[in-house]
Order: sequence, then structure tokens, then C-alpha cells
Amino acid sequence: MNSDLNDVFEWGQMNEDISSNEYLKLQLDKFAISTDMQIQNKLTSDLMLRYAEMSNMLEKNNKLLTKYNEQLEDMVDEKVKDISDLQMATIYSLVKLSESRDDDTGAHIIRTSTLCKVLAELLKGKQMYKQIIDDDFVENIFKASPLHDIGKVGIPDRILLKPGKLTYDEFEIMKTHVTIGYNTLKEVRDKFPNSLFLEMGMDIVKYHHEKWDGSGYPNGVSGRDISLPGRIIAIIDVYDALRSKRVYKEAYTHEESCSILKKGSGKHFDPFIVDVFLEYNETIKDIHYKLG
Ligand SMILES: [Fe+2]
Repeated sequence: MNSDLNDVFEWGQMNEDISSNEYLKLQLDKFAISTDMQIQNKLTSDLMLRYAEMSNMLEKNNKLLTKYNEQLEDMVDEKVKDISDLQMATIYSLVKLSESRDDDTGAHIIRTSTLCKVLAELLKGKQMYKQIIDDDFVENIFKASPLHDIGKVGIPDRILLKPGKLTYDEFEIMKTHVTIGYNTLKEVRDKFPNSLFLEMGMDIVKYHHEKWDGSGYPNGVSGRDISLPGRIIAIIDVYDALRSKRVYKEAYTHEESCSILKKGSGKHFDPFIVDVFLEYNETIKDIHYKLG
């Protein structure tokens, strides 16, 4: 339009017969258009400047928000870790206290929890357990496995510390460590009903002496009716017991212990889990050695 008016204006200047009113009108129109354009340009430029300032400010705010979020996430992670460490410290103290009568080193607790975690992670890599074992499972078995013998706190010294073989009656009393431990954890779980860690702890205590063929105790449960954490700890607990020196026996070598686990496959132990243990036995041997 501006270009059209320019044409008309130039035409008006070139044609002498155009009336002075018309010429004036054309000039006024051109001035009005030109003023409008200047105002529009000014407005556009102001708006663009304002937009650029706001974009800048938004970008700065976004960066600040991202930074605050990251700081907040770090703080939450740190607090969760603190709570988790505190939880582990409490568990270790509790278990160490309960085991102080027959194992004052606490090494069995560390070895058991670490090897349970390792075996759970190895099983997680297998098709059969891919959908069943997740990171929470691995973390919870690591934390809860030290609780497996917590019920021994209720077993008299004369039985718990007896160097020789237990009589039938003594063994019957020894077996009650499962129920004592389970009932203790159940009472705690009833106060904290949403704790998956306590649920797994109860599972571990309840099933750690059950056997694949149903000949274990206290309930004679068999096969996959024994919980998965129970089937994992059964293998690790026996492996560590075999590898440890006792008053009544020398420590077995890793190879001898593996051979005993193999013999117990499908009888005492879940055969699939034994196979995975044996497949990665060198890794397990190294970790066990490093844990002392
Ligand atoms: Fe036990």
C-alpha cells in the first residue's frame, strides 16, 4: 500500500493538472501512513526487545530452578542414604549383639549379606528371574539377610555354645530360633506395616532352614513354596558355614564346599540357584576371600 501511495504521490508531482487539494490529501495520506509505519516499527522493536528481555529472564529462572532441583535431589539422596546407613547400623548392632555369644567378629553377617546380594544380582540376569528380582529386592536381601539367625538370642548358652553334637531334644530347642526370630520381626512389622525390608526379613527367617525336598524345618515346606529369599540364603548360609572353622570342624575349601552344594542340589537346595552359584563360583570365591 505504501508503495502504491508513493506511486500516486510521484504521479501527483509529475501531473500539473492535479488539484492542490488532491495533492495535499495525497501528501497527508503519505504522512499518515509513514507515521503509522514508524509507530508500528517502534512498537515492534519495543515488543521484540521486551520479548528478548523476558526470554532472557525466563532462561535465567529456568537455570536457577534446575539448579535448585538438583540441589534438592542431592539433599534428598543424602538424607535417604543417612537413613539407610542408620538402618544398616541398627541392624548390624542388633544382629552382632545376638550373635556375640558364638561369633564375636561379625564377619559372618557381612559375608552372608554381601553374598546374598551377589547371588540375587546373578539370578536377576537370568531369564527366569528377570521379572521377579528388581533393584529393591537386591537391596532388601542385602539388608535383611543378616537377620536370619536373630532368634538365636532366645537359645540357651548350653545349647548354642555346645561344642559337640546336639541331642535330639537340644536340636528341637535349637530349631525354635526360627519361630522366635520370625515372631520378633512380625511384631516389629505390625508396627511398620509398609516395610518391604521387614517383610523380606520375616521371609528369610521363616524359610532359611527349609529344604527343597520338604525335609527342612520348621514347617517342612518344599520347592518354590519356600520363598525366593529363603532359597537364596539357604545356599549362602550353608556355603559360609562350610567355609568357616568351628570348634567341631575345620574350614572346608571352596571346591569341597561347592561339591557339597552340588550334592544337595534338588534335595536341600533349589537346583536352579545352585547351578547359577556354581556357574559363577569363581566370582563368589573371590568375594568371599576378600571379605575375610
Ligand atoms: Fe538358622
